[in-house]
Amino acid sequence: MKATLPFLIVALFVHSINGGSGSELRPGFYSSTCPQAELIVREVMKKAMEREARSGASVMRLQFHDCFVNGCDGSLLLDDTPTMLGEKEALSNINSLRSYEVIDEIKEALEEACPGVVSCADIIIMAARDAVALSGGPDWEVKLGRLDSLTASQEDSNNIMPSPRSNATYLIDLFARFNLSVEDMVALSGSHSIGQARCFSIIFRLYNQSGTGRPDPAIEPGFRKELNKLCPFGGDENVTGNLDATPTVFDNQYFKDLVAGRGFLNSDETLFTTRETKGWVVRYSEDQNAFFDAFVKSMIKMGDLQSGRPGEIRKNCRVVNIPHSRTGMTWMAY
Ligand code: HEM
Ligand SMILES: *[C@@H]1O[C@H](CO)[C@@H](O)[C@H](O)[C@H]1NC(C)=O
Ligand SMILES: *[C@@H]1O[C@H](CO)[C@@H](O)[C@H](O)[C@H]1NC(C)=O
Ligand SMILES: *[C@@H]1O[C@H](CO)[C@@H](O)[C@H](O)[C@H]1NC(C)=O
Ligand SMILES: *[C@@H]1O[C@H](CO)[C@@H](O)[C@H](O)[C@H]1NC(C)=O
Repeated sequence: MKATLPFLIVALFVHSINGGSGSELRPGFYSSTCPQAELIVREVMKKAMEREARSGASVMRLQFHDCFVNGCDGSLLLDDTPTMLGEKEALSNINSLRSYEVIDEIKEALEEACPGVVSCADIIIMAARDAVALSGGPDWEVKLGRLDSLTASQEDSNNIMPSPRSNATYLIDLFARFNLSVEDMVALSGSHSIGQARCFSIIFRLYNQSGTGRPDPAIEPGFRKELNKLCPFGGDENVTGNLDATPTVFDNQYFKDLVAGRGFLNSDETLFTTRETKGWVVRYSEDQNAFFDAFVKSMIKMGDLQSGRPGEIRKNCRVVNIPHSRTGMTWMAY
């Protein structure tokens, strides 16, 4: 007897697991499923920083830009698709965020060791920690167990991520929306102890602060001369300058610079010139350990932000695993 109908298999793929806000993050999440995960991340991060010191700062910044937009879910890493404008081209990210390829390299090493186990969202959290530790900053235990998002939103990033023009009052209110205190906000700004920024981000404060046609009076005159030379009016806005005087060392130099009127961004210097934040700046400029302790606590708090949306463990951090329908299920006929 012959089969008269083609052999048909209908497979139902439920490809996402719920990563709701109740899902518990914890240290050592991969200790049985991928015990070497944290070692691998640190090793790849170390090699990347040996190739290019700045990649530490660039990778660490990814945690902020991922976590503030719908939680720490790797949404930042998704490339645009014909139907989805992702976050990479959002106002604060385009021509600015970098070192995505370091995350790819870490992911490849982890997929080799333990396929399908470690999320891209967790990679950002581990690599950010490692970048700080490898730059001479504090080291700490991270909580893990995040899932990767199925979508990303350029619009959400545009609405949330702060401009370098921001003043301290605005930043206090913004961070409060994420339950991050004034102390958290100042400590997290101390991340600018490493890395660089473009002239694009400071031109306005050098030549036309708040539309006055004059420079920001908070800039110390000697430093202003240096910045005028680095970033002349009408010059190349892609030229970069150091965010503090020791841009490859994670230390409290950033806060000393703010006290001296040598903060690079307006959002940096405003922390010293505003009453509510000045006390913390002075304290951290005088006590590096106090800064390190506060920074670690605040990074962990920021890492706790979750979207409560469904997620998956992406195979490639730039794309979701299976194109999915609205119901989150995929029917396939063979
Ligand atoms: C408080 C509000 C913040 C504002 C307004 C801000 C803004 C900026 C801007 C404008 C740049 C340079 C972009 C460019 O010119 O291309 C930058 C760089 C950087 N930001 Fe922030 N940032 C803030 C908070 C944070 C936080 C919370 C972190 C991480 C915990 C962070 C980490 C970094 C790092 C490491 C760099 C240097 C990156 C590199 O060299 O590639 N920032 N930030
Ligand atoms: C701070 O920035 C906000 C938003 O841009 C603005 O409305 C406010 O007037 C500014 N505050 C001060 C003290 O400059
Ligand atoms: C902030 O804390 C409140 C009260 O504990 C909580 O309801 C809210 O979800 C938290 N918001 C965020 C963004 O974590
Ligand atoms: C300075 O900013 C003000 C207000 O935004 C604007 O009207 C003016 O044209 C600017 N001046 C220059 C030289 O860009
Ligand atoms: C700055 O660099 C980006 C790409 O990295 C480029 O698209 C842009 O045109 C450059 N801007 C200037 C003024 O050179």
